Parts: sequence; C-alpha cells; structure tokens
Amino acid sequence: MKKENAKKEKIRTSVLEKLREIMESDGEVSDEEQVRFDSMERTLNDLSREPSRSEVRLMLTSMSKVDGVADFAESAIIKKFMQSLPEEPPKANEGEKSDLPDNINPDTLQSTRELHIDGEAQIEVKDLNLRYGSAQALFDVSIPIEKNSVTSLIGPSGCGKSTLLRCLNRMNDLIPICNFDGSIVYDGDDINKSGTDLVRLRRKIGMVFQKPNPFPKSVFDNVSYGVQLHYNPSRRKMNEIVEKSLTSAALWGEVSDRLHELGTSLSGGQQQRLCIARTIAVEPDVILMDEPCSALDPIATAKIEDLITQLKEHFTVVIVTHSMSQAMRVSDYTAFMFLGRLIEFDKTDKIFNNPGNELTDRYISGRFG
Ligand SMILES: Nc1ncnc2c1ncn2[C@@H]1O[C@H](COP(=O)(O)OP(=O)(O)OP(=O)(O)O)[C@@H](O)[C@H]1O
Ligand SMILES: [Mg+2]
Repeated sequence: MKKENAKKEKIRTSVLEKLREIMESDGEVSDEEQVRFDSMERTLNDLSREPSRSEVRLMLTSMSKVDGVADFAESAIIKKFMQSLPEEPPKANEGEKSDLPDNINPDTLQSTRELHIDGEAQIEVKDLNLRYGSAQALFDVSIPIEKNSVTSLIGPSGCGKSTLLRCLNRMNDLIPICNFDGSIVYDGDDINKSGTDLVRLRRKIGMVFQKPNPFPKSVFDNVSYGVQLHYNPSRRKMNEIVEKSLTSAALWGEVSDRLHELGTSLSGGQQQRLCIARTIAVEPDVILMDEPCSALDPIATAKIEDLITQLKEHFTVVIVTHSMSQAMRVSDYTAFMFLGRLIEFDKTDKIFNNPGNELTDRYISGRFG
C-alpha cells in the first residue's frame, strides 16, 4: 500500500511539474491560465478526494487553450496517472461528518436570509447554488456587497469561499465540471445570464490571487498591458495611468526608478502590490482578493492591509482570508461560511464581538475549523 502511494505521489508530482513547465513556457501566465492551473493543481493535490479519471480529463481539456497541454493530455505520463485514479466518480462532497462540530446536522444547515447593509449594493448575489460535477459546493447563498466597502469571506477550509469569490466575475466558467444557478446582479444586470460580456465583466470586477503572479515583463509593462489591450491610450496618457495606478497601489515610491526592471525581480510584497496596480489600471469597480497575503511576511502583509483600507475609497473590495485578525482589521462586513452555506453576514464588529449564530461563535473563538 505504501509503495502504491509513493508511486502515485511520484506520478502526481511529475504531472504538476510538467504542467507548470508548459504554462510558463510561453513566458506569460494570464489570470485565466492561473485559474485553470490552480483548479488542476487542486484536483491533483486533493487525492484524498480521489478525483475520477473523467474529472481529470475534463480539467486537462479545459486547459487545452494553453499551448502544449492538449498534447500533454495524451502523453504517457497522464495515461499512467489516469490509471492510478479510481474508475467511479467521487461521492457528493458535502462535508464529512467528522469535520463537524458536535450536534450539527448538515441537512438542517441553511444559508441565512438576514442580509442587511447600510448603503447601496454594488453586487447582489441571490439564491446561488453551485456544483462541481455531482458535488454541491454552494447552497442557496445570497449576499449583498456594499459599494465602497470591504467585505471579508471567512470560514474553514473547503467551505466555498474561493468558489463564491470566483462566481463574482464568472471565473468558475473556466472549470468545465462547474454548473450553477441563481442570480448575481451587478450594474443592473444579472451576470449569470448567457450573453454577458465576460471580458468587460472581468475588467470591471478584477481579481488578485494568493500567489503574486506578475508577467515576466517590466514593472511598467505589467501595469500598462491590460490598459493597452482595452483602451490603447497615447504614450503620455499611458505614463499618467501607470504612475497613478502604482501610486494607488502604494508602490510608486518604491519603483519609480525601477520601471524598466522585471516585475518578477521585486520582493513578494511588492509583486503583490504590482498585481493590484495592474488590476486598478483598467479602472475596475470591484477588486476580488483570494488570500492576498498568505504568501507574504508580516511587514508586507501590513502594507497590503493598509492599502486595502485606502482602496475602498474608490473601489469595492471582497477579500477571502483565513486570518480573523485580518478580517477584523480591514473589513466593514464579514460573511461566515460553513459547508457551502453562508451562515452569518453582518457588520464585522458584530460578527466578532456579538455573533448571532452559535457556529460563528465557535469558529471565531477557534473551537473548530
Ligand atoms: N476546481 C474544482 N473542481 C472540483 N471541486 C472543487 C474545485 N474547486 C473547489 N472544489 C471543491 O469545492 C469545495 C469548496 O472549495 P473552495 O476552494 O471554494 O473552498 P475554500 O473555502 O476556498 O477553501 P480553502 O480555505 O482551503 O481555500 C471543496 O469541497 C472543494 O474540494
Ligand atoms: Mg480558497
């Protein structure tokens, strides 16, 4: 059995290495490729969940826009990997009983309908259900996102935070086994409707990932790249946009004399602020951040937290975080998720000082999760 696991592990590691190599071979890993890769990586890493052969095959097909992946999908290494996977699809993944605090029956858990905000909603999620294949990951989730505020999504690993975040700019569309219903109203329109302009949507609702992922281009080009694609401004205007975006991302002072150095040569914290500048440059309304500080040291984290507080003056921010103190420091509203349900949503102060739900109380006081 041990030998079998070691063999599987060896194949799995070489699959991931090979995929990363293919992804990086054309120099640039776009946000969409990054989502595809993360999704693939999760499936491969999550071997305890035993992805089925067809799921892995689907994942690879979904990545086939990346040059080389289609050939790789047919390669001997993948065939070997497939053979190490079970034939049957996994069972519905609605949380193991052993993950649950005592006395919780998942069948009786429901997403809350108490969803008050003081100001205007920038986004309104209503009755969102989402499945990966047969496994349901979100259950009747509704949540309003207040304009020019910071909303944190918290909850134990696997509760659906990233899934909900990715719904807000339809990034889950890149995962072929994913299907959903319910509405997400942004700018007066339901973005879940077919015909939504996804390029525009992802410009207006930008995303910053866990690992900083600057392009292997200069600092200047990292920021100007998306602007060029969308607006093609004059050189003078572009210089202004780059300076303004780097200033808004609290990075200008540190890189104004390094604009032509590679973005990848900056420190981790600077790279993450460069990615934020890149997102800001195309003038979004909303910035989604999935654990933006988890790869950073405490000083770089403090800088990003300060930045988030400044950003809400001009943008609406939704952040996924595992750090409760971070949620307390940066956010106006906090949503606690558990097993794909949105258990409680309220002002951050209320959630952390006087939660209305016993599960929230247990989670924030570290009694599970
Ligand atoms: N691409 C995918 N394909 C299949 N299942 C997925 C995929 N992404 C997430 N899931 C499953 O959906 C559920 C919710 O996952 P999600 O990544 O949204 O959780 P999370 O709260 O962000 O967890 P973490 O804190 O570990 O990042 C989990 O059961 C996970 O295994
Ligand atoms: Mg996550």
